Amino acid sequence: MSDSTRILAFAGSLRRESYNKRLLKIAVRAAQEEGAEVTEIDLQDFRMPVLDQDMERAEGLPASARQLKKLMVDHDGFLIASPEYNSSVTGVLKNTIDWASRPAEGEPPLVAFQGKIAAIIAASPGGLGGLRGLVHLRAILGNIGVLVLPEQLAVPKAHEAFAEDGSLADGKLQGRVEQIGRRLVQVASRLRDPE
Ligand code: FNR
Repeated sequence: MSDSTRILAFAGSLRRESYNKRLLKIAVRAAQEEGAEVTEIDLQDFRMPVLDQDMERAEGLPASARQLKKLMVDHDGFLIASPEYNSSVTGVLKNTIDWASRPAEGEPPLVAFQGKIAAIIAASPGGLGGLRGLVHLRAILGNIGVLVLPEQLAVPKAHEAFAEDGSLADGKLQGRVEQIGRRLVQVASRLRDPE
């Protein structure tokens, strides 16, 4: 097992030009600077069918879900940047969590989630920045055993929030995203090694 704290980072959007993928990169960089080993993935590379328990019974987990679940198991925490769809989590994010939550023989329940830590952030062209989705995401993750950092950020007006270099034009918001990335690593490291 790696000596560094390992963070799995992904956006809850499949969109190529996703604002949340851009926001994620800012937090990822800060987490790396804090000493974490960050694996940044795109859920486009882990496409899964909508969870259907009959399919699951017949075929088990799709290969992409098995791979993602294994990645989650192998990391200490998650960094998630997600938009809200209709005031809640996106379908792709919920479906991904649902598949990764499915049990397999010989492993503890919710092995991909229990005892993990997460930081959640959001961006949206709207005025609330995806804040309502974060409320639901926090509840979902908490209910499956993930400790979610109290610090979070929803960036409104995302279509005009980013500078050319990928940073947030508002230096204060940029600093808050970076702080969340750093805090995630600090808390995850403490949980790994409480001494
Ligand atoms: C949205 N969008 C949206 N935005 C928001 O602030 N609140 C909302 O409830 C919704 N609802 C919603 C539903 C559906 C089905 C779609 C497709 C979109 C707009 C959304 O924030 C916008 O498309 C973002 O650009 C999506 O995030 P990414 O892909 O840029 O990260």
